[in-house]
Amino acid sequence: MSTDDLKREAARAALRHVEDGMRLGLGTGSTAEHFVDLLAERVRGGLKVTCVSSSERTQAQAERLGISLTTLDAMPELDLYVDGADEIGPGLSLIKGGGGALLREKIVASAARRMIVIADESKLVPVLGAFPLPIEVVPFGLEATRIAIVRLAGRLGLSGLMLVRGATNGHVFVTDGGHRILDCHFSHIDNPAELAAGLTAIPGVVEHGLFLGLASAACVAGPGGVRVIDR
Ligand code: A5P
Repeated sequence: MSTDDLKREAARAALRHVEDGMRLGLGTGSTAEHFVDLLAERVRGGLKVTCVSSSERTQAQAERLGISLTTLDAMPELDLYVDGADEIGPGLSLIKGGGGALLREKIVASAARRMIVIADESKLVPVLGAFPLPIEVVPFGLEATRIAIVRLAGRLGLSGLMLVRGATNGHVFVTDGGHRILDCHFSHIDNPAELAAGLTAIPGVVEHGLFLGLASAACVAGPGGVRVIDR
């Protein structure tokens, strides 16, 4: 089975938690894309759900597939949010934002009663941080914000490259909210809660990709099948 097949199986497993009439949040990324595809098949078969998407990319996919969409303002409370993750650590702590949609993802995830993570088993890690942590920052004063993050990281015993996404190839990445992303190569984050609190206190930081205490369960697919991990 390819990694892509595993992602689809994880998405299929999460779909079993979707019931008629649900208010759903749709995630972003290659695994979430499978979920939206499979959801659309169920919708064509008569399932009634109303969805809010976490990115322009997912919005376009869902519209194309005929899924009923609304805004989070019109439907501010959701039953379920389904999304992928870049890393799944202890207690279902997550790194997200590899696709750059972390701000909207976190807003939508926080509006949902439950969040189910879908992933292939390569995303499971004993300690977060091998995947570079995305931090969404406002463009104004970006260098000052970066220095504040470097100082915070130093106080917490973290170090590593911190790169503006896309800057090295001349195509600086701009998020759906018009912000920039700093990808922080910390390699291991021993205390994610401490780092999350410190980042949130820096004014130029809009949001960070540490999703702590948000996921209720994860459907993780491996060659032997899909395992459900509860928090
Ligand atoms: C998007 O910003 C991300 O949070 C994705 O959900 C995450 O990167 C997982 O993506 P894949 O399913 O493509 O690995």
